[in-house]
Amino acid sequence: MRDANRIVAEILARLGEIIEPGTTTGHLDRIADQMIRKAGAKAAFKGYRMSDKKPYPACICSSVNEEIVHGIPGARVLNAGDIVGIDVGVVYKGFVGDAAKTYPVGDITESAQRLLRITEEALHRGIEQGWPGNRLQDISRAVQRHVESNGYSVVRDFVGHGVGRKMHEPPQIPNYTGVGWNPRLEVGMTLALEPMVNEGTWRIKLLDDEWTAVTGDGKLSAHFEHSIAVTDNGPMILSLP
Ligand code: MF3
Ligand code: CO
Repeated sequence: MRDANRIVAEILARLGEIIEPGTTTGHLDRIADQMIRKAGAKAAFKGYRMSDKKPYPACICSSVNEEIVHGIPGARVLNAGDIVGIDVGVVYKGFVGDAAKTYPVGDITESAQRLLRITEEALHRGIEQGWPGNRLQDISRAVQRHVESNGYSVVRDFVGHGVGRKMHEPPQIPNYTGVGWNPRLEVGMTLALEPMVNEGTWRIKLLDDEWTAVTGDGKLSAHFEHSIAVTDNGPMILSLP
């Protein structure tokens, strides 16, 4: 799991270096594709099937501004002032790595900077709860509190997840409490935590491409994701370079 996630983290770091005004999201996808092959891994998202949608067509997701998650890379040019969420998944030696980060493109407004900061902080508030003996919703609660106390909303329609030999394993990990299963965390569990945070409403719309989720009100959204392991010594972030 660590090896698969290290590859993901290195790709995210590299993409962060080349994101600038003028870069296309398709270019980012091609760089990721090359790096995945070079590492001897496979793209986990390409061809992925969710319900009865068409299979996901790319190696990464690139979600710009009001796009929340699952934006499809292509000819779109990134402009100064945009924010872009990049999500990368690979399979390496039978295990899945999955992580995401939202990047500023050139200079962005202070309010956009704040959205990115709070979302990343919320992810880390969640990670800090990843101790054996805690419950799943301790993670959800920590994320939700940080987001809502700062005036933002958490997306409901997508959740974090267990991750392992498959990309999506139980349990689902909502970024809000009060729903679903609330198991105790145990040593050896590997989880992908991924808060999606909106400036305005938590409601989403799906674009005609069947994948891209956008905010219901057109306001900005940010997404950060790490895969972690629950260990005797607490949470270990797997998706670091
Ligand atoms: N990190 C996202 C997830 O866990 C990315 C999935 S993109 C998909 O759902 F295309 F593979 F669905
Ligand atoms: Co994920």
